Amino acid sequence: MKQDSSAGLKDQFNIGICGMGTVGGGTFTLLQDNQTEITRRLGRSLKVSHVASRRQNPLYDTEGVRFSTDVFAVADDPEVDILVEVLGGTEPALSLIMRAIENGKHVVTANKALIAVHGNAIFAAAKRKGVTVAYESAVAGGIPIIKALREGLAANSIQWLAGIINGTGNFILTEMAEKGRSFAEVLKEAQALGYAEADPTFDVEGIDAAHKLTILASNAFGISLQFDKVYTEGISKVTTEDVNYAAELGYRIKHLGITRMTDKGIEMRVHPTLISDRRLIANVNGVMNAVVVKGDSVGSTLYYGAGAGAKATASSVVADLIDIVRSCGSEARSNSGNVPSLAFDSLRSDIPILKIEDIECEFYLRLSVQDKIGVMAQISRLLTDHGINIEALIQKEPDASQGGDAFVPIVIVTGRVLESQMNKAIAAMEALEQVVEKITRIRIEQFDGEGN
Ligand code: HSE
Repeated sequence: MKQDSSAGLKDQFNIGICGMGTVGGGTFTLLQDNQTEITRRLGRSLKVSHVASRRQNPLYDTEGVRFSTDVFAVADDPEVDILVEVLGGTEPALSLIMRAIENGKHVVTANKALIAVHGNAIFAAAKRKGVTVAYESAVAGGIPIIKALREGLAANSIQWLAGIINGTGNFILTEMAEKGRSFAEVLKEAQALGYAEADPTFDVEGIDAAHKLTILASNAFGISLQFDKVYTEGISKVTTEDVNYAAELGYRIKHLGITRMTDKGIEMRVHPTLISDRRLIANVNGVMNAVVVKGDSVGSTLYYGAGAGAKATASSVVADLIDIVRSCGSEARSNSGNVPSLAFDSLRSDIPILKIEDIECEFYLRLSVQDKIGVMAQISRLLTDHGINIEALIQKEPDASQGGDAFVPIVIVTGRVLESQMNKAIAAMEALEQVVEKITRIRIEQFDGEGN
């Protein structure tokens, strides 16, 4: 390790990168490409001294850099000051990070699943050892949303946040809406572009977004990470029909992660959502991510940018490296920074996370019914019996080409109602003989009439 004796500061920090896939390779390249600018910002340099991956990746010129096939060799390398974990998955990532912490190294990770599920234990271990575990790149790729929540908005009591936080899902919904492309075809393209998770069901079933929402909620409200309490629904059941009806009603369908502080507890939910097409967030398309945060003092703020991909994610990884080095004095390993891992010095454990049944929403309902006299009246009566207001309604003429057995689609927008009450109303409507299919329900968000 080189020391600058005049300033008493260590002038070079050695970085070990574990995983040389999309994000690891992107990080390696960015550190090389922007080396001069980064050194100018820091007044110190960042040098990749050790990389580990299953095999050498011929795409990157790692000559002069120590190479290992065993990632633990990086955690045990006394020359490495900061370990970058970009392997993904639970193991060996979890053991690797714990080993690095035990060895007094700072860690930068892009592993949202690991932070969402094991973050409480990881941060506790890091606190004991006085090192930092930074994870900006775990949420929304290149958007500095963790920094915004932990630092820029630190004066606020956060009221709610909502985000498009899975690029693959947004890419699929956008292509379906704008080009009528099939779900499977677009997913394949997202995989080829390196956006999708190793297991793409994590993207389309909302698990990846739930990991990220868990992390955002903890940083917004100062609560421990509680991934198992997130209500999670994917986009695999969204049809082109629903996308088109939503458009007719002035809405776009987006896959949102939403967390909100209420009098009863905290909402944490990921599901397809109708949003007015006048909102900025409804117009976030392709692989782009966006997060709206409502603070009591600042009001509503919007963060937008690339949510996946090598360069955008590497931007956040390297920003974390820079932050860590800035917080270190002359000793590389002794300073855990000034910002608590989950934004708050003390976490609250007294606020319950609400079950989806206890959350109130407006709803989009699509029913397929027999074309018979009185069906509409029965549906309307059942909704009224359950205290549900009809705000908008579309009923199309039956398709003449299907002859006498044609079914008629009915689309209803309801007023606000508890999910548990909506469940009862849907069960009652589905019990009608004339309702021929399971009713599609998609929640609607108006964001308290706030901007963005
Ligand atoms: N699969 C993720 C996405 C990658 O599509 O957003 C970035 O976390």
